[in-house]
Amino acid sequence: MSTTPLLQHAEYGYMLPEAHNLLTQHADKIREHLIATGAAMEALAKRFGGDPQTWKVAGMLHDLDWDKLEKDMEEHCGETLEELLKTVKAPQELLADIRAHYAEKYGAAHPLESMLRKCLYCVDELTGLIIAVALVRPSKKLAGVEVKSVKKKMKEKSFAAQVNREQILRCEELLGIPPDEFISITLEAMKSVAGEIGL
Ligand SMILES: [Fe+2]
Ligand SMILES: [Fe+2]
Repeated sequence: MSTTPLLQHAEYGYMLPEAHNLLTQHADKIREHLIATGAAMEALAKRFGGDPQTWKVAGMLHDLDWDKLEKDMEEHCGETLEELLKTVKAPQELLADIRAHYAEKYGAAHPLESMLRKCLYCVDELTGLIIAVALVRPSKKLAGVEVKSVKKKMKEKSFAAQVNREQILRCEELLGIPPDEFISITLEAMKSVAGEIGL
């Protein structure tokens, strides 16, 4: 019998309807980022053999507390998030997976020990970068954005300077895939929800 920690295999895809409801109720400014990250996580689950709905839920809810915190980074993933998740009786594994993406604060308690967590950690910054790339285009749309345009903007340090490039590039070490593939999967997933996020 395997003794692999259950966390690596916890599935909570059944929370998808609740995840949609939570976004409707609590996500405004952060909504685009959450829908985009949910779609990207779903696609990454398919690439890495995870449960697509579980990964999608984690992506959709990872910054659920953001609009309420008004950029109080110290409180991110703390009690506010916990309270919001309690309203839908979310399992502890979901809270733990979400906290893991804030590695600077929760890395010791919730290490990046599963592919879900590793992907969420790396893709979080990438969806932000891709949204920024779309918004500087004349059309302000994702249509026409290519992997090479994302890579070009990634190299421009002053562009979307808050995006942590290193975290994106850790896909090679943490996920074992080159940045081109990582960007391509994420970009295509985001294009599939472009209408939903107004891009
Ligand atoms: Fe976050
Ligand atoms: Fe995020």
